[in-house]
Amino acid sequence: MPGAIYAEGLVKTFGDVRALDGVDFDVPEGTVLGLLGPNGAGKTTAVRCLTTLLRPDRGKAIVAGIDVLKNPNEVRRSIGLSGQFAAVDEYLTGRENLQMVGRLYQMKAKDAKVRAGELLEQFNLADAADRPAKTYSGGMRRRLDLAAALVVSPPVMFMDEPTTGLDPRNRQQLWEVIKRLVSGGTTLLLTTQYLEEADHLAHDICVVDHGRVIARGTSDQLKARTGGERVEVVVHEREHIATASEVLRGFGKGETTVEEHTRKLTMPVTGGAKLLAEVIRELDTRGIEIDDIGLRRPTLDDVFISLTGHLAETEAEENGGVQDAKGRKTKAKQEPVQDKDKDKDKAKKEAAS
Ligand SMILES: Nc1ncnc2c1ncn2[C@@H]1O[C@H](COP(=O)(O)OP(=O)(O)OP(=O)(O)O)[C@@H](O)[C@H]1O
Ligand SMILES: [Mg+2]
Repeated sequence: MPGAIYAEGLVKTFGDVRALDGVDFDVPEGTVLGLLGPNGAGKTTAVRCLTTLLRPDRGKAIVAGIDVLKNPNEVRRSIGLSGQFAAVDEYLTGRENLQMVGRLYQMKAKDAKVRAGELLEQFNLADAADRPAKTYSGGMRRRLDLAAALVVSPPVMFMDEPTTGLDPRNRQQLWEVIKRLVSGGTTLLLTTQYLEEADHLAHDICVVDHGRVIARGTSDQLKARTGGERVEVVVHEREHIATASEVLRGFGKGETTVEEHTRKLTMPVTGGAKLLAEVIRELDTRGIEIDDIGLRRPTLDDVFISLTGHLAETEAEENGGVQDAKGRKTKAKQEPVQDKDKDKDKAKKEAAS
């Protein structure tokens, strides 16, 4: 019996780009799956296929027990979606936007009003509730869009990079909202580039790259796969990075990662405190002054580096969000997701009146 979100062998190509190259996952009811991957990995494409916005070339998808390819309309009634690009109506106020969504889902006007009020409070938008959304900041739009996805509480939710662009306080608050939602039984598929977010929220994580799932498991399982602890050294002088790296190589069990600007070197090791003492002695013998040294458990960042050979967030920054190292287009080139246009005008008029 498949879980609340089930995908088998999903393939989607755009010209010669294989955005999805045979993706499988199965999300048990009431749990959170984190789809983690760099720009262009195929996260949004997966979400769009599962939410009926895009038809996969091949494969099977079942959401809330309904076949996505055979009965898309039925699926739409059982899911909520917060897309990567906030889809709010610029000319309506925050409150009107939320009331409109309630009306689209056939809520009574009074109930839609009450629900809108609750969500505006929950998402820190109460003060701006009666201003047109076009006057909102990026983070406010993002929050309004997320609130809109929660007007009704569908059994299955999809959130595509829900906290991108939110400040730390709002990100924390959204995490709390998500936790409450899931403890109430909602099944959630969440995409993110923030490893910390997946660590925090997801029961299971699928790491995707080039349209394929390259690893899956709980955060702890993924961390365990990357081996034991890490020695982290911060050298005092930038010129000493190369020698320190050579020293670490002598003790390590893999590649040294170097962060030039912070003069920090990281190396996977086995051997614990005893080995740490040896590293310190060797660095001292070579005359390398250190500002900091320690042992730590692997993080999801380490998992990412060992699986994909690069950091999730760095790639996005280095490529300005337009093209990645392999020339694949990324978010700046995509069109925002727009649906429900037909009913929208009608509900808009109602909400504004
Ligand atoms: N409508 C489209 N037309 C052409 N290519 C597309 C289209 N949508 C996605 N792609 C390509 O498919 C690949 C996967 O894109 P997708 O949006 O799924 O990535 P993503 O993991 O969501 O990335 P990001 O982190 O940047 O949001 C990319 O190479 C992208 O350029
Ligand atoms: Mg995306």
